[in-house]
Amino acid sequence: MAQPVSLGREGFLATLRRDRWWVEPLLVAVGLTAFGVYVTVSAVAMDTRFEVGPYLSPLYEPLLVFNWWHFSPAILILWAPLGFRMTCYYYRGAYYKAFFANPPACAVTGYANPGKFRGETKFPWTVMNLHRFFLFFALILNVFLWIGAVKSFWYDGRLGFGLGSIILVVNAFLLMMYSFSCHSVRHFIGGRLDCFTCTKSARMRHGWWQTVSRWNENHRLWAWTSLIWVGWTDIYIRLCASGVISDPNTWGVLEVIH
Ligand code: FES
Repeated sequence: MAQPVSLGREGFLATLRRDRWWVEPLLVAVGLTAFGVYVTVSAVAMDTRFEVGPYLSPLYEPLLVFNWWHFSPAILILWAPLGFRMTCYYYRGAYYKAFFANPPACAVTGYANPGKFRGETKFPWTVMNLHRFFLFFALILNVFLWIGAVKSFWYDGRLGFGLGSIILVVNAFLLMMYSFSCHSVRHFIGGRLDCFTCTKSARMRHGWWQTVSRWNENHRLWAWTSLIWVGWTDIYIRLCASGVISDPNTWGVLEVIH
């Protein structure tokens, strides 16, 4: 009978790996912490520098203003995309490793007693099953993000565009690809089918499933590019609205909104 391989030492972080396995969880921890802090500060800021001219920060899209709501309008929106990200299959694998280190990487020992590991079978981790429902809210927000991006080409009664319009279009595209490459979208399109070739509709779904599966292969890429870009878009609009920079555009320099 094969004997277990000795790691030379036991316990937390024991491994035979010789590569820099710790780089990825470290980058994930730094990236997600930075994004979380920035979004929290930006979303709860009680100012109006989230919009300037035809540009509205994607953290506030669609802008919901009610008399009864006395806090930042971003809070009414952000629960959906943040819930979508936090329950994402890719991010779960990444931030479990980065923040809980249990294990911190493949073939690296975590700290828990393996016999007590329950995965996501107990509350609060069962909440992760809500991902498919967050998906529908995310898809709805994708529509509003595209509407906001298209509206950014119309300002002061004239059609035109600025650097902000391009940034908003790229933002809507990246977030759309992040949503469409979701594992739940794959399942929604191709799941619960026993035969991909038996009927015309099954063959059609198979074709869509193949396309979504190709996007899904790069889900991590879409996850990070969309995350970084949505933060950058908010920063850009705030810098323009604060008068720190001017948006190059075909209408002339945008006025500063304070
Ligand atoms: S699996 Fe990542 S968004 Fe659905």
